[in-house]
Amino acid sequence: METVVSGIRSTGKLHLGNYYGAIQNFIKMQHEYNCYFFIADLHSLTTHPTPADLHGNVKQVLVEYLAAGIDPEQATIYVQSDVPEVAELYLYLNMNAYLGELERATSFKDKVRANPDNVNAGLLTYPVLMAADIIIHKATKVPVGKDQEQHLEMARTFGNRFNRLYDTEYFPEPYAFNYSNNLVKIPGLDGKGKMGKSEGEGNAVYLSDSPEIIRKKVMKAVTDSGPIVSPAPGESIEADALNDYLKSMQGQPAKKSDAVQNLFDLMKVVSAEDTLSFFEDQYQAGNIRYGDFKKQLAEDMIIATAPIREKINDIANDEAYLRQVARYGAAKARESASKTIKEVREIIGFRNF
Ligand code: TRP
Repeated sequence: METVVSGIRSTGKLHLGNYYGAIQNFIKMQHEYNCYFFIADLHSLTTHPTPADLHGNVKQVLVEYLAAGIDPEQATIYVQSDVPEVAELYLYLNMNAYLGELERATSFKDKVRANPDNVNAGLLTYPVLMAADIIIHKATKVPVGKDQEQHLEMARTFGNRFNRLYDTEYFPEPYAFNYSNNLVKIPGLDGKGKMGKSEGEGNAVYLSDSPEIIRKKVMKAVTDSGPIVSPAPGESIEADALNDYLKSMQGQPAKKSDAVQNLFDLMKVVSAEDTLSFFEDQYQAGNIRYGDFKKQLAEDMIIATAPIREKINDIANDEAYLRQVARYGAAKARESASKTIKEVREIIGFRNF
């Protein structure tokens, strides 16, 4: 059976992007593959959380994994720092990861730009740690969102490089996986990029948000005042050409602004198909009312998250159960990881005195 690994950084509450981008796939995959789902608390250290924050965030992700339907009997659920073998493999892989390629990673460049005062080595080698997470279990399938594709490519590079260096075929190649053909992209509510915690409060809808909060956030989401006719990106229109352009647009669907398109994309994941086409038709007819559209979107988000939201509190209050899940998962993950580390040590040539 193929092995699957994926993790989510413990930086707090999970949002719809985590759910539709990753967790929904986890839940399906746990019945079909040998799955390891972990909480990436080592990765979260790049931003220096306080001990109390770290503690709370790890618990939050564990609770929400379970509330969302990841079953500890089906999949191995563990906390990354409970498996020190991962850190050991990370050290070995670091010997073969080069400054140039690490500096070129998009996620690294983004983080440097966002936080020029905290460019630490852990941030630079983030993709090496991620590669260790994956190949320590010799996984071949990694359910992640589109933004992680470059990291997966780097994981293949590091595994292959190890294989070449030691003339072995020890590590298989991991690939990003999604049940649908396209890796899903869940936009945020700010009219710009993806849904995320770092994009500011109000941009993300969390699994634990109450219905009132979801309504408030969605009603505040950016829209525009109606269908617009706009040139394609990079195209500019001279006054004379405008008429031709407008003519050429006749009979073609109106082009939505990014902000509106984002809300339609969200509706596509949380709402029924006929709801989506109802508002699509209104948009094309030029008589969409954004108040009604957003009200519907909020209600459908509330319905979609209700089963998870209802379980979060109960699970969070059951410390004994959480401890049992984490210990059981850590033991299973270490069994697999320590086997790999033992073999890797032999391959590298450490002496067994
Ligand atoms: N980098 C991933 C993210 O930000 C989290 C992650 C860490 C991960 N290690 C992983 C995902 C291993 C899949 C496999 O979302």
